[in-house]
Amino acid sequence: VLQTPHSGLVMHLLCFLLHAENLLVLTVATKQTEGFRRFRRSAQFFNYKIQVLGLDEEWKGGDERKPAGGGQKVRLLKSALKQHADKEDLVILFTESYDVLFASGPAELLKKFKQAKSKVVFSAENYIYPDRKLEAKYPPVRDGKRFLGSGGFIGYAPSLKKLVEEWKGKDDDRQMTACVLINLDHRSRIFQNLNGALDEVVLKFENARVRARNLLYDTLPVIIHGNGPTKLQLNYLGNYIPQIWTFETGCTVCDEGLRSLAGIKALPMILIGVFIEQPTPFLSQFFLRLRNLHYPKQRIQVFIHNHEHSKEYLAMKVIGPDDEVENAEARNLGMDLCRKDPDCDYYFSLDAEVVLKNTETLRILIEQNKSVIAPLVSRHEKLWSNFWGALSPDGYYARSEDYVDIVQRRRVGLWNVPYISSVYMVKGKALRSELDEGDLFHGGKLDADMAFCHNVRNRGVFMYLTNRHQFGHILSLENYQTAHLHNDLWQIFSNPEDWKEKYIHENYTAALKGKLVEMPCPDVYWFPIFTDTACDELVEEMEHYGKWSTGDNTDSRIQGGYENVPTIDIHMNQIGFEREWYKFLLDYIAPITEKLYPGYYTKTQFELAFVVRYKPDEQPSLMPHHDASTFTINIALNRVGIDYEGGGCRFLRYNCSIRAPRKGWTLMHPGRLTHYHEGLPTTKGTRYIAVSFIDP
Ligand SMILES: *[C@@H]1O[C@H](CO)[C@@H](O)[C@H](O)[C@H]1NC(C)=O
Ligand SMILES: *[C@@H]1O[C@H](CO)[C@@H](O)[C@H](O)[C@H]1NC(C)=O
Ligand SMILES: *[C@@H]1O[C@H](CO)[C@@H](O)[C@H](O)[C@H]1NC(C)=O
Repeated sequence: VLQTPHSGLVMHLLCFLLHAENLLVLTVATKQTEGFRRFRRSAQFFNYKIQVLGLDEEWKGGDERKPAGGGQKVRLLKSALKQHADKEDLVILFTESYDVLFASGPAELLKKFKQAKSKVVFSAENYIYPDRKLEAKYPPVRDGKRFLGSGGFIGYAPSLKKLVEEWKGKDDDRQMTACVLINLDHRSRIFQNLNGALDEVVLKFENARVRARNLLYDTLPVIIHGNGPTKLQLNYLGNYIPQIWTFETGCTVCDEGLRSLAGIKALPMILIGVFIEQPTPFLSQFFLRLRNLHYPKQRIQVFIHNHEHSKEYLAMKVIGPDDEVENAEARNLGMDLCRKDPDCDYYFSLDAEVVLKNTETLRILIEQNKSVIAPLVSRHEKLWSNFWGALSPDGYYARSEDYVDIVQRRRVGLWNVPYISSVYMVKGKALRSELDEGDLFHGGKLDADMAFCHNVRNRGVFMYLTNRHQFGHILSLENYQTAHLHNDLWQIFSNPEDWKEKYIHENYTAALKGKLVEMPCPDVYWFPIFTDTACDELVEEMEHYGKWSTGDNTDSRIQGGYENVPTIDIHMNQIGFEREWYKFLLDYIAPITEKLYPGYYTKTQFELAFVVRYKPDEQPSLMPHHDASTFTINIALNRVGIDYEGGGCRFLRYNCSIRAPRKGWTLMHPGRLTHYHEGLPTTKGTRYIAVSFIDP
């Protein structure tokens, strides 16, 4: 080895390896919080040797979730150092654990420590904590951070022992700074305390490796400490470091600790809390999707705030509007049902505006095995979603650098985020331990969701968001008006995708491709357009409105010459539906017209669009006439043989009749000149059709 030209390098590497053996990480943790597990995972990732002090020992340094500079730490450290005092070459790193992670390995750490040429090196920061009076005792520095930081220190075992021996504090004493003025890591070569330094630190993506870089000193710190208010920033960095996330593979530890449901007979018990907190469109679809979730109903209980119930589930509790329970209170109630039931394994909170299309959602979330996890849902083609990547200083929304990429699934993974809402799953076990406070949904002036997230964060529980699968989207609730009988019909602008799912025939897409289009008479096309629901709701809406025209010639429309022959009808504009109808024609009729009548481009302008009613004793038929249109669409809204008998349409020039119209299918034919036609008599029941004269 020594004879090769690279022997210097090899010697160097050997030295590092030897040194790595001579490095021990000491940390204090009294509970295996998620922060601690993150720390341990990063240490294991880089092969650090760690010794955890104080696990299962009662903590006396104050609230364990707050950074405690307690004397108890010193006491634990003292006794640990006694074991190692005689190891001259042993380098010991002492660091926090709940809010610390490693960004690089032992070799780099030792190299940087040796380069510092000091027996002990402490982390440094811009702020002095906890006692500002000590400020004068610190020598000013030309460059870098001046004050002793809380992130940790590194040194030779005997020197550390000596240093710590001088300390005689009590357990609750936080003033450790007074006696330990040693060498500080002013330029964050080893330790990066994030407090007061958020702007200095950025993520660097290089060669499938992610590191935090200090821009101010151009250094790559090895140990990152999210002290004080910067915990959230550490959570953010922890989504990428150490190499748990890369552009190539997404997250590399997403499948760590999965809970497999394969082959389990009795699946975990889930309580689903459904919240309808404001008028919400497409509720029947919502409940249909809830039913269709791929999970045994006998393992599901349902709690609903503000809606009727069904009998299919193991149990169902409903809090209706009459109970006068407000949002936060209802959410507490739902969650408490799971918390208090030892058999409740998971609580799944679902707001009615969430369109959960992935029927495997419950299983996917359970398998991720996190205390709190949300599936990503966002508004169609919008950036509005059910999570925040960052918080503003006052606790409201702030956009994180990766927010857009996560919403648009350009970065895929499992994300530790500060805020989730609308749909999430919580482990029952977490509700009965860390989250055992009864009232998680209240908190100052915060709304229920913000209060919940605030409380979860404060209890040291991480909230995850997964975008590893497509889950669904969120409805837009703006502009949802409830003045009509069937308000969803008016949602074609606000929620076009959901409108389509509810109202457009499942075979419309095939018709658009030219399949399923029939020609029962020359140049008369016939294809599916509306679902049964669309037909029924339109008819009901018209009957609800009820002001049918009289069908005689006093009608001003007829005098104006639009309608050649009068019918018993109600026009779309009478029910305030003309904008929506126009949009429907534009989105669904125009594309098909251009296919079937090549070279003709419709503007889908219409003067007349109305629903006609035929009854034997009212107006059973319509005499032969031309339409005041370039072409006409005529949609059958109910079913021959069931709702009525007779009816149909005859084109006189071709002596051709369509005697069995199909519900939800439209006829499309030229309006003038060739397609002189009549409405055949309805002999029984009531027949409804929706007619539009297009491009008059
Ligand atoms: C699920 O996570 C818990 C920690 O929250 C862990 O103890 C357990 O081992 C994990 N389950 C599996 C199957 O890995
Ligand atoms: C759609 O078309 C398929 C195939 O022709 C048919 O089986 C199905 O019943 C149609 N759907 C409806 C709602 O008519
Ligand atoms: C129209 O068609 C019917 C049968 O469909 C036939 O009986 C009748 O004679 C035809 N009328 C004319 C004028 O061709």
